[in-house]
Amino acid sequence: MTPNVLESIAHTRAAVSAARQAGSRIALVPTMGALHAGHARLIERARQDGQYVVVSIFVNPLQFDRPDDLERYPRTMESDLQMCASLGVDAVFAPVVGEMYPHTPTCTVHVGAVANYLCGQYRPGHFDGVATVVMKLFQIVTPDRAYFGEKDAQQLAVVRHLVRDFNLPVDIVGVKTVRESDGLALSSRNARLDQEERRLAPALYAGLLEAARLIARGETRANVVKTAAAARIRAARPLRLEYLEVVDAQNMQPVERITGRVIVAGALWVGSTRLIDNVRCDKVVLP
Ligand code: PAJ
Repeated sequence: MTPNVLESIAHTRAAVSAARQAGSRIALVPTMGALHAGHARLIERARQDGQYVVVSIFVNPLQFDRPDDLERYPRTMESDLQMCASLGVDAVFAPVVGEMYPHTPTCTVHVGAVANYLCGQYRPGHFDGVATVVMKLFQIVTPDRAYFGEKDAQQLAVVRHLVRDFNLPVDIVGVKTVRESDGLALSSRNARLDQEERRLAPALYAGLLEAARLIARGETRANVVKTAAAARIRAARPLRLEYLEVVDAQNMQPVERITGRVIVAGALWVGSTRLIDNVRCDKVVLP
């Protein structure tokens, strides 16, 4: 089945409202395209839930803090549409920048403390840009459910806070990270890695697994966990670790003592490509 490809907001609203009138619940999978098996997992989840599935494909300039990153972001619309067709997507919302931002917006979403650390610390304005475009997509598509990957754990937390703080009637579904066989999390940016960089890139996940192992063994000192994980990653030069942090899984604030559910998250530069990844660790509380 070929999805309905919609470039205008008006047509998208009309398609969604017809589907809703026909009794469907609406599912949204927001993406920036260059679709891979990670995106596919989100779409499959939405499909399994038996809804009218809308995939948005929009490279959102508001969330890019570096112009070269925006310029180099892969754009593969033709194969994206093929993937959507093969996964039974009902509609693809693929607006041009001028449709989403006909003028510089005067009202944007500002994200508070949940965006203060991790990527928020190194990419100024990034999560404001994400929250603003997600808010717009929710207003345009009016989904009952929206699907986001745990790979971008801080983004998922930001979206959950957005929904709570603005009382948005959307259920947010988090989907497990899809990985290559050597552990590297699938990402549209992986396409930029050369052969040698690709070989080194799984170091980030290896470091995060080291952290998870220590926590599972009962280590509660975040510093000890971070040092061990970072040592594992730094051992493989010429990688540059931007951050490696242990944060509370809900509010994304760094913790010193690991007493509950935490996320160990890292950002690694591999050459000129920045990769992020994380693992969630549930502290086993012994009786
Ligand atoms: P993008 O990077 O295209 O990712 C779209 C969705 O796919 C996000 O929810 C992301 O977490 C999820 N995803 C990416 N790689 C994944 C993987 N390996 N496993 C599981 N899920 C994965 O994230 C964005 O776009 C944008 O910030 C967006 C939310 C669309 C707003 O512009």
